[in-house]
Amino acid sequence: MKKELIITKDGSHSLFVPDLNETYHSVHGSISEAIHVFINSGLLSHRKKNINILEMGFGTGLNTLLTLKNIKHRKIHYTSLEPYPISSEIYNKLNFHTLINSDSDTFLELHTSNWEEEVFISENFTLYKTQKKIQNFISKKKFDIIYFDAFSPEKQTEMWTTEVFEKCFDLLNKDGFLVTYCAKGIFRRTLKSVGFEVISLDGPPGKRQMTRANKSTYQK
Ligand SMILES: C[S@@+](CC[C@H](N)C(=O)[O-])C[C@H]1O[C@@H](n2cnc3c(N)ncnc32)[C@H](O)[C@@H]1O
Repeated sequence: MKKELIITKDGSHSLFVPDLNETYHSVHGSISEAIHVFINSGLLSHRKKNINILEMGFGTGLNTLLTLKNIKHRKIHYTSLEPYPISSEIYNKLNFHTLINSDSDTFLELHTSNWEEEVFISENFTLYKTQKKIQNFISKKKFDIIYFDAFSPEKQTEMWTTEVFEKCFDLLNKDGFLVTYCAKGIFRRTLKSVGFEVISLDGPPGKRQMTRANKSTYQK
């Protein structure tokens, strides 16, 4: 599928997919959206010190880079699913590391590191990228946070099914949760139907709300 580099409102790049008429991130700002949804409402909202993260899907590597940048005193194991990796021609042009004062070598390492094996990016950050789709992904490891960053339900319905969210529920630890930019009513009802406690949070720029779904109801 063809992908075109675009600039979003906060100056950060994203990709536009003409066949889907869809962008990888919000046009109101890729970095602003990712920090709001996945870092502030995801990573920094979990109390655990050793965290297992599962991402759908790796794409531009933005969420991975931001997670690495916000690791603080934690240890993170980061699993990312991506059946359709972007080309080196594209990832070499992405401006994320410049905008967040990270170094380009680290960002490029996230892309060039081997697939289907654990790679120690730093002492406290292990990356496991796999080209499996969520529908075929099997894991003995359970996760504390799922970054659910699929294309929108209108553009990729097969990612937003009861079966996929049942799988996410099973993949989470008891005190784990899923976060996503999506706040659609039908999606939230599907989450509830598979057992999640659904929390509405303020959305990133350009969006009223986003969603966090807790596996257990006791945590807020
Ligand atoms: C909205 S983009 C976001 C990607 C990434 N998080 C980023 O910030 O660039 C959705 C990603 O999901 C990937 N994807 C598509 N089908 C998938 C599937 N069945 N399982 C897992 N990921 C999938 C796409 O290739 C794409 O990279």
